[in-house]
Amino acid sequence: MSEKKRLVVLTGAGISAESGFKTFRDSDGLWEQYKVEDVASIEGWYRNPELIIDFYNDLRTQLEKAQPNDGHKILAELEKYFDVRIITQNVDNLHERAGSTHVVHLHGELTKVRPVNNASKIYDIGYSRMTYGDKSPDNELLRPHIVWFGEAVPMISEASRLVRDADIFAVIGSSLVVYPAAGLVHDLRGKTEAFLIDPKEVSVPTGMKFKVIREVASKGVAIMRDELLREFGFAS
Ligand code: OAD
Repeated sequence: MSEKKRLVVLTGAGISAESGFKTFRDSDGLWEQYKVEDVASIEGWYRNPELIIDFYNDLRTQLEKAQPNDGHKILAELEKYFDVRIITQNVDNLHERAGSTHVVHLHGELTKVRPVNNASKIYDIGYSRMTYGDKSPDNELLRPHIVWFGEAVPMISEASRLVRDADIFAVIGSSLVVYPAAGLVHDLRGKTEAFLIDPKEVSVPTGMKFKVIREVASKGVAIMRDELLREFGFAS
């Protein structure tokens, strides 16, 4: 059997919108309710860590009740046909719960915490709430395992390598305004077939050829799946 083609997918908040999560920049998005500098920046952590901990505690509680939607599920099913690698800006675990087995989290994970002074030790807390002052087994002060504005994005090099090696690439539900994630499109090789799934217009750098599917994730990913299965001879 021939080797599977590599499908690399960059997802943003839009893929989890149909699972009940607010996006950040749509009208009524999270950044209209909260100030990004208060709840998602390293300066915010130094100013008021309790506020940040509450914000992520609430999202974690919401995540426990949320379910993956068809967008997540179809991407997981596509592993039967393609070597699927997901790069997500989302901190939820809905890709994993839908069954995707290769997920790179660029901005961290809601169900994990880490010592304030050590990004390399990560602890799973599941859906439990944390409190400011919680300590690791080594007595180090813990914080949410989230990459905030003003911090480095350690997983970006791995993501960039994945995009460079992609046979097929898709951006799903991201406004492509937050760097370095948004810059990953520059790693695409010219021959990589690229899709963009979003109900709204998203601007991509000029000269790049994306097949745009102007739909919500559940419908858009189904359209992309059908097209790929036909193109690669899997459709009956
Ligand atoms: P945004 O809120 O910036 O963009 C969400 C995108 O999803 C928009 O282009 C919407 O049109 C689209 N969208 C909305 N509903 C959708 C649906 N049902 N199906 C598909 N697409 C839909 O979110 P991101 O691009 O993910 O970072 O934002 C990137 C980063 O900015 C986040 O990871 C977060 C935020 O600040 C941190 O907190 C560090």
